[in-house]
Amino acid sequence: PSTAKCHASVATSYMETSEVTGLDWDNLGFGLIETDFMYVAKCGPDGIFSKGEVLPFGPIALSPSAGVLNYGQGLFEGLKAYRKTDGSILLFRPEENAIRMISGAERMCMPAPTVEQFVDAVKQTVLANKRWVPPTGKGSLYIRPLLIGSGAVLGLAPAPEYSFIIFVSPVGNYFKEGLSPINLIVEEKFHRASPGGTGGVKTIGNYASVLKAQKVAKGKGYSDVLYLDAVHDKYLEEVSSCNIFVVKDNVISTPAIKGTILPGITRKSIIEVAQSKGFKVEERLVSVDELLNADEVFCTGTAVVVSPVGSVTYMGKRVEYGNQGVGVVSQQLYKSLTSLQMGNVEDWMGWT
Ligand code: COI
Repeated sequence: PSTAKCHASVATSYMETSEVTGLDWDNLGFGLIETDFMYVAKCGPDGIFSKGEVLPFGPIALSPSAGVLNYGQGLFEGLKAYRKTDGSILLFRPEENAIRMISGAERMCMPAPTVEQFVDAVKQTVLANKRWVPPTGKGSLYIRPLLIGSGAVLGLAPAPEYSFIIFVSPVGNYFKEGLSPINLIVEEKFHRASPGGTGGVKTIGNYASVLKAQKVAKGKGYSDVLYLDAVHDKYLEEVSSCNIFVVKDNVISTPAIKGTILPGITRKSIIEVAQSKGFKVEERLVSVDELLNADEVFCTGTAVVVSPVGSVTYMGKRVEYGNQGVGVVSQQLYKSLTSLQMGNVEDWMGWT
């Protein structure tokens, strides 16, 4: 469809779309529910993204020779929109995702949209799909921005064209355990990232490479896999889909960002919330021994929010935390963060 037609259809949807989607808001998991619209902007060799369009959600056409398909030149982001009790919609720290996409794009040799373009595109996409934002307390609208090398290449080189795409899906809890503690296994065979690699950016290949270990772990009944560093095989890195924190004697520690760990926006927000509540937070090397001796362990991520860890298994030994209960520190931080995200308290951090 032409640009004019697309914009016309979006305008009509604002007026005519009922808020009803036919979804069972009480049983949302974390799977794709297709919504009405997606956003697409393109960029040629000049590195400047066109004014994007809001288009009906659907398949995109790519050359089989596209850079992303052949050489994995692609990044993604994840953020959420929440509905407040008054019906308005809140975005949580979208500028942080824009900044992270810019730094990831630099590592992956791609141009990126500016912070302003990114945030504007996110707002347009959410507004076009506003009937899919779950009611307060029932979940959120997960927003998935993609930046891909969509131009054709054959020899190994950056693609000549890039696409910035955003789609959304209503979601509930990420893990099947819901808000109950998850069970992790420490991976002993595979590593997620190595120094000098791309572990610190949200490139698509980082997620393909953890699927095998995750599948084996899930087959054994674990929720997910925790990776150790590739050099010493001793220090915590991250879980396939989220960052990790340990609590000992009320001190909160998490692996420092040093190129192999994703700089999570929820990770950063939890550190800032915890510090504002008077907790001591340490970003440093955290050994697997410390993990096994912790009082509490929890994971953070946009998708997982704050997920308490009920047990960790390492070299055949299973350690349980707090009798499988939710630790008091993670409970407090979860409450503080989600109250801000959902607009249940005044935004004292200025994040929404
Ligand atoms: C997110 O939390 O947004 C992520 O990117 C994790 C993803 C594997 C679902």
